[in-house]
Formats: sequence, C-alpha cells, structure tokens
Amino acid sequence: MSELVPEIAQLRQLLDAHRQAGKTIGLVPTMGALHAGHRRLMEVARAENDVVVATIFINPTQFDRQDDLERYPKTLEQDMALCRDAGVDLVFAPSAAEMYPQPQLAWVDVPELTKYLCGAGRPGHFRGVATVVTKLLLIAQPGRAYFGEKDAQQLAVIRRMARDLNIPVNIVGVPTVREADGLAISSRNRLLNDYERLQARTLSQALFTARDEILAGERSVKKIQSAVAYFFDGVRLEYFSIVDTETLTPVERIEGSVLIAGAIWLGTTRLIDNVTVSVAGNSLEPDQ
Ligand code: PAF
Repeated sequence: MSELVPEIAQLRQLLDAHRQAGKTIGLVPTMGALHAGHRRLMEVARAENDVVVATIFINPTQFDRQDDLERYPKTLEQDMALCRDAGVDLVFAPSAAEMYPQPQLAWVDVPELTKYLCGAGRPGHFRGVATVVTKLLLIAQPGRAYFGEKDAQQLAVIRRMARDLNIPVNIVGVPTVREADGLAISSRNRLLNDYERLQARTLSQALFTARDEILAGERSVKKIQSAVAYFFDGVRLEYFSIVDTETLTPVERIEGSVLIAGAIWLGTTRLIDNVTVSVAGNSLEPDQ
C-alpha cells in the first residue's frame, strides 16, 4: 500500500524516522500521468533501497507554455494504483502552494548545459527543473534519485547540479522504455490522435538509423543528418542534433561518445527522444 503524503513537514517526519532506523531512501520524481517508463524507475528504486518515495508534482516553473501546463494529463487515482503495484512506499503529491508558498526568488540554473537541444527552444525550462529537483532532494534527502534517460539533457543537468552543489545523492539514470515500434514511452503520447501516433515512430526510426550510420563508419554529422532527413517529411522538426555527451555542445564529426537527440511536433504535442553512441577512434577520412 502506498501512503499519499501531501505536506512537506509530514514527509520529512516520516523519512527522518526511516533514516534514524538506518533505512536507505530512493526518490523517483515525476509529474504524474505515470506509465511503463516511470514504473521501470520505481522498480529499479525498489530493488536498490529500503524505502521508495515517488513524487507527483506538475511543476509550473518548468513549463514555458501555459497551454502545455493546462493540457498536462492529471491522473492521480491511476498513478496511485501504479505506485502501489510497483511497491512504492510513499507518494509525495504536494500542491503548488505547498511547493511555492511565495514567489520563488532563489533559482538553480546550469546554463552551460542548456544552450542547445531542448534548452534552445524552451527558455527557462531547465531552470525550473533544476530548481524543483533541488527542492525535492532537500526535502526528501534520498541516498539515490532516479531519472529516465529519455530526458537525457535533464539527466545531465541534474547530475551536474547535484555535483556542483555537493548534494549528497547518487543520481541514477534508467534506460528508456519503448513501445514495440520503437516510440519512447512518454506521458505526452496519450495526447496523440491515431494519425499522430503513427507518425510518432519516425523520431526513434531516425535516431536508430543515425546510430547505425555511425556504427557502419560514418563520421560526418552533416551526412548523417541528410541520411535521416526523409523521416521528417510531413513532421514539424524542432531539432535533430548530435552533441558531445559531456558538454552537450554540437559536434561536426563523430568522436568518442555522442548523444543523438531530436524533438518533433505532432499537432500541438512535442515529443523528444535520444540514443547514445560511442566510437573507439575517429575516422581520418576528410569530410566531403
Ligand atoms: O521528468 C519529469 O517528470 C520532471 O521534469 C521532473 C524531473 C519530475 C521535475 O519536475
């Protein structure tokens, strides 16, 4: 049975007691509308910790569009059932007033990692994410916190923020869960109509094709981008980029470890996905 905890003070009290009893705590921050990807995070957390806390909070400060915030699916009853099935002990589901009782004046920001990819098109988004995750980490003080690799830029920002601010937590990345046709599972998938759902698979297809091009020896980013361009016919492409996995800055040639990431729009729904590829050495062939 998962216990619903709406207040910070109550969560702190429950977790203090667990800590005093020597229990390890794993935190799974979410915005609800839970799906198989979240379930995977919870299962990994369940296997690695004595106490698992999931948080469900649609964080207003990370939405750059009011309509996106309003449309975000709210499914607390089903979410509680999924948490219970996944063995979550406590579900922290605060109100916006509980998390932001007064206008937020202190912010956490990692601008160096948010110039490209989603950061370029969503001003303020990662500042909102970094700030709310810092608040959640300070409230729950878990030994480990779990985030999906589907949100690769978010994961990189949170890792760096925790390291730079000396927050004593192990940030654990959990691999993306996919539908049978490759579509990365996301809360926003449920906003797609049937036709958009069909189109949605083009993003993962383009990512896998780009990865295969690299594994087959292609090193020119321009050529890889041209090779996958046809996947986006009839789809609004926000970006399809290849960046260094550490700095998240675009590369021209593939070397070491790279993140291939894309964002597309289907109607008013925005989907993101990524894959990581590592190559041992760099090809010496000139870029033509
Ligand atoms: O990935 C999400 O669901 C959110 O960005 C997070 C990490 C819960 C912060 O609100």
